[in-house]
Amino acid sequence: MAKDKFIDVLDKFPLSVCVATLGRGGAESGLAVSWTSPVSFSPLHLMIAVDKLHYSVDLLKSTKNFVLNILRADQMKLAGHFARRSMAGDNKLDKVPAREATTGAAILTDALAYFDCEVVKSLEVGDHLMFIGKVVDAAVLNPGEPLTTLAGIHYHKSRPAKG
Ligand SMILES: Cc1cc2nc3c(=O)[nH]c(=O)nc-3n(C[C@H](O)[C@H](O)[C@H](O)COP(=O)(O)O)c2cc1C
Repeated sequence: MAKDKFIDVLDKFPLSVCVATLGRGGAESGLAVSWTSPVSFSPLHLMIAVDKLHYSVDLLKSTKNFVLNILRADQMKLAGHFARRSMAGDNKLDKVPAREATTGAAILTDALAYFDCEVVKSLEVGDHLMFIGKVVDAAVLNPGEPLTTLAGIHYHKSRPAKG
């Protein structure tokens, strides 16, 4: 099936915009993610799908932790900040209000809510890696509505030209 058709349908599929923060201590970072979902009640597991080429992948593989920070409706600018590609010597978490979660990753204290996860498994699925996290802590932090996006518009790789 053509990728364009897949994206047309994705454009009708609202997803939550989140920031996955990863790592701990000096080795930490974060990226905007919308390809995420709960996957099991027993045990409590959820997953994030991360492009195999992203800088974040190596960190996720080595520190094996992430906090999925669910953003509030007015935090699109913060999502944009974490959607920037990481550069050497750059820490996207600088100047962002945060505290350390049980796993050591950063809880963004202005976010709506979070899940703190230990990576228990990763699975290669095409051009992405699914990181399955065991949820060790979760909480609602602030009042508000979640930020959502039509995933096809805000997150897809090189939509084929229409012609
Ligand atoms: C709204 C939105 C949702 C995104 N969702 C994902 C996602 O689910 N998985 C992913 O790999 N990248 C996603 N991205 C892209 C990454 O956030 C972006 O490529 C980032 O630069 C990767 O960070 P890194 O270079 O520090 O690894 C999304 C971007 C935006 C704006």
